[in-house]
Amino acid sequence: MYKIKSAEKFLWDGIDLEGKKVLEGGTSWGNTTDLIAKKVRENQWSTELISIDIDDSHFEEIEERLQNDFKSLSLRRGDLSNLDFIDDQSIDVIICNYTLSSVDQFPMRALSALKEFYRVLKPGGDLLITEEMPIWSVDSTSYPYWSKRLRIIKSISVLRGMSYFNEIHPKDLEVSLITTGFKDIIWNEFTEKINAERATKFLDKRKQTLIKGSDDLENKKVNDGLTELTEELVKEFSGTEEFSAPGYVLRGRK
Ligand SMILES: C[S@@+](CC[C@H](N)C(=O)[O-])C[C@H]1O[C@@H](n2cnc3c(N)ncnc32)[C@H](O)[C@@H]1O
Repeated sequence: MYKIKSAEKFLWDGIDLEGKKVLEGGTSWGNTTDLIAKKVRENQWSTELISIDIDDSHFEEIEERLQNDFKSLSLRRGDLSNLDFIDDQSIDVIICNYTLSSVDQFPMRALSALKEFYRVLKPGGDLLITEEMPIWSVDSTSYPYWSKRLRIIKSISVLRGMSYFNEIHPKDLEVSLITTGFKDIIWNEFTEKINAERATKFLDKRKQTLIKGSDDLENKKVNDGLTELTEELVKEFSGTEEFSAPGYVLRGRK
């Protein structure tokens, strides 16, 4: 039997975007947008892409970089849990990478996003999702940097009363998708490589929040401890280009 090895192969297996309208959920700095553009270029597809993020800070640079790769490229600021600016059954393929856990910072909001995905997809349309595994579901010693980094970020966020990413287990995502109406759901776990420089920047930002912030749980020892842990981790991984993280790719169809 043909064995699909990499996450990228599993995600793209059998996907043809010729003449298709694609929706990307969670543009961010455009990692996945770049990947879609690369596939479109390689296959000389004529593809329309609408990419949506609640934060538009990278839109200008992405538009400049990729506008010539698509038949049309539209970067829209919007909340994936409310896509009322997109018509019912108007999209052929939805690609949503590393974003549902961010939407689910506000628990259950990802379900509203899935409901919107189902509404805007054409019957037979594909939904492709990549996410990180939840930290409790893996042996964290196998992913030392990933796991320490996540635990520090989450601890600081809880201490400061801030929301934080809620990674969704693929089994729970599968149930939510079936409940929403999706079918033919398959998923596979993978070890992903994450850009260490970007990840470290995010960690440092959280440390700044801890140092600057104040709330009614102020405790110097806790603050100093978490600051020290953050600095140690940044030092330990300075010079590292990428690190491993446990992830999965899930595919479903309307
Ligand atoms: C980790 S980034 C996505 C990374 C990108 N897709 C990739 O493949 O590298 C998560 C993104 O989700 C966006 N986001 C979070 N909640 C959202 C929501 N409710 N609607 C739209 N975008 C949201 C954030 O602004 C952030 O840019």
